[in-house]
Amino acid sequence: MADYKPYLTEALSIARTAGAIIKNAFTNRTTLSIDLKNANDADLVTQVDRQVEQVIFSHLRSVYPSHKFVGEESVSESESKRTGLDDTPSWVVDPIDGTTNFVHGFPFVAVAIALVIKGRPVVGVVYNPIMEELFYATHGGGAFLNETPLPLPPLKPLPSLSTALVASEYGSDRAPEILDPKVRTLHKVVASPARGVRTIGSAALTMCYVARGTLDAYWEAGVHAWDVAAATVILREAGGIVVNWEKGSREENGAEVYDLCSRNVLCVRKTTGAGEGEVIVEKIRAAIEPVEYARD
Ligand code: IPD
Repeated sequence: MADYKPYLTEALSIARTAGAIIKNAFTNRTTLSIDLKNANDADLVTQVDRQVEQVIFSHLRSVYPSHKFVGEESVSESESKRTGLDDTPSWVVDPIDGTTNFVHGFPFVAVAIALVIKGRPVVGVVYNPIMEELFYATHGGGAFLNETPLPLPPLKPLPSLSTALVASEYGSDRAPEILDPKVRTLHKVVASPARGVRTIGSAALTMCYVARGTLDAYWEAGVHAWDVAAATVILREAGGIVVNWEKGSREENGAEVYDLCSRNVLCVRKTTGAGEGEVIVEKIRAAIEPVEYARD
């Protein structure tokens, strides 16, 4: 197996630098300049998102000049709006996941950095500098929160949705053809019944809480590759399942292939009972109404 540790070391180092910028700006939010993406009050970008992306890319570019760099803000400002991900090793970065939280002072805010090789995230760092939570993983090397292996004990069984704390998000698009199926899906899962529902405003952190074992399952349509790439390796290394809404083909290790550019995600934490996670995946899949988004 390839040694991804040197990449992780670089990613951790630049995530800490980015985290210091984010924390300082979070503390002094009165001077924030906020722009609307697509004239949409629910889709925000600040000068801090742009600054952090630049700082991360200029560092990683100096170390890995032959790699590709895909960031939320550079893709959003490009003409194609596509990631252009191919087989080139690529750094996929969300400078601030949870920008709305950041603007409002709601502390679920993180920088997310992933190294993706041939479509598969192999290094992931998700750092919330406000709550001092540093999640990280390498493919085959395990997942950690600060220095503690994930998932955190006690690991509980998950016999059914009725004992599950689930999470989802509405996303920023309020068009009825996007919002209505999401609300109907949420209603079906809650009515299943699920024990509780949370929506915390950061896809990356939500997946890390599933990795930690604090949340049991999460699904969303509308996510971008930069929201989920880093957390995908963290959650899989923590023994959880990360799949698409549609059933996919299998990887060599038996896991379902997850398509990073699909704009949807469904995940379940590691459980104690064999096959329990798969049962929850299929239960949520059965409730899901598809939502169409252009691929990344
Ligand atoms: C958003 C957050 C949010 C999720 C959206 C993402 P951003 O990322 O992760 O929780 O619902 O789909 O786009 O814009 O804050 O980086």
